[in-house]
Amino acid sequence: MMHDDKTIHLVVVGGCGHVGLPLGLAFASKGVHVTLLDINEQAVQTLNQGKIPFQEEGAQEILDRHLNKNLFITSDDTVVENADVVCFITGTPIDEHLNPRIQDIIRIIRHYKKHFHPDQLIILRSTIYPGTTRVIENILQKESKVRKIAFCPERIQEGKGICEIFSLPQLVSATSSEAEQEAVALFSRITQKTIILSPEEAELAKLMTNSWRYLQFAIANQFYMMATEFGYDFHKIFAAMTEDYPRARSFARPGLAAGPCLFKDTMQIAAFHKHHFHLGHSAMLVNEGLPSFLVDQMSQHFDGDLRQRKIAILGMTFKADNDDTRESLSFKIKKLLEFRMAEVISSDPWLPDTCPLEEALAQADGIILGVPHKEYLTIFPQQPFVDCWGIWSKHQQN
Ligand SMILES: NC(=O)c1ccc[n+]([C@@H]2O[C@H](COP(=O)([O-])OP(=O)(O)OC[C@H]3O[C@@H](n4cnc5c(N)ncnc54)[C@H](O)[C@@H]3O)[C@@H](O)[C@H]2O)c1
Repeated sequence: MMHDDKTIHLVVVGGCGHVGLPLGLAFASKGVHVTLLDINEQAVQTLNQGKIPFQEEGAQEILDRHLNKNLFITSDDTVVENADVVCFITGTPIDEHLNPRIQDIIRIIRHYKKHFHPDQLIILRSTIYPGTTRVIENILQKESKVRKIAFCPERIQEGKGICEIFSLPQLVSATSSEAEQEAVALFSRITQKTIILSPEEAELAKLMTNSWRYLQFAIANQFYMMATEFGYDFHKIFAAMTEDYPRARSFARPGLAAGPCLFKDTMQIAAFHKHHFHLGHSAMLVNEGLPSFLVDQMSQHFDGDLRQRKIAILGMTFKADNDDTRESLSFKIKKLLEFRMAEVISSDPWLPDTCPLEEALAQADGIILGVPHKEYLTIFPQQPFVDCWGIWSKHQQN
């Protein structure tokens, strides 16, 4: 059994990542003894210097209060030996053939298993291919003395993780009732509601949540491309469809559906369903096709010829008001523009090495809005622009 409140020691493997860090900070803020364990030496060093390595609301305050009190950051594996709970939150990417790389998480678990002991609760928190928890249970049963394994997926919105951890219900699943009870007890420290599922149900719930969002963006993007191709203003149609119409409340706006999760999780669930998840693959074709559509739209402003045109992309990160560039489709736009021999100016207030906004606006012949950071809401480009998000198009309607 886990010890009393004061002595619980949680080790988060992948603790300096976008999901591991907010989780570790959330637990530390509630008095749990937390060690963030990560192979990223630079992130370990940055955090030990009291700095948060990426944008995460509310993180700095918690780090300031808890660092070296009940919160420790290290790359030393052996801390796992002293843990009551070991939570794994490392990446779960897909491969070049769009299949899940299940071996990554298995390799990591195998690496740490020499430090495991039978009293520990092992929590898997990465988004995993359905069935992975059982595979890991089987491996650990054969290769270690660990018996308590839980899968408790993370559902936070990146950048706002800490705030959401305290308010979202936590899905809890486990391979035994003892593990389930301990996982519920642990998460009850940071959230008011836990929902019990079997491991397979929880794995599917997480993947279905992300795929559903990916599909929502795809339908908006398809309609945007459809209306635009026929010369209609989609944003005007969208405003009319959704105004005071309750059933359209969840209608997503068009925009680049990017980032490290939605695409790869849609492909994970497609692989699970023997690649018969036709809606998922269609969504991928639409969302991944949008950058080409936007570049074509831009080229129409220049009679189809982008050679030597200076085109600025405003917003290089994958989401607004955030510094994460992982799987950002702005970089796909950049490549497509360069292939059309345009001169690309990348600009992003979150990325210091890119062109400052004023300079980009002054130099560009045309502008593509990559992501609607708040800095762009108050400007209106004087040159031709392409804005699938609809923040500048609204000005044109009025
Ligand atoms: N980013 C999100 O918003 C989000 C939301 C919900 C779920 N998820 C899922 O969470 C998981 C992690 O995603 P992320 O965005 O935090 O990734 P990330 O790359 O930001 O973090 C992973 C961390 O794990 C570390 N790591 C890798 N191998 C390690 C090892 N052997 N030992 C210790 N540390 C190791 C890395 O250095 C990195 O700091 C993925 O499965 C993802 O799908 C992500």
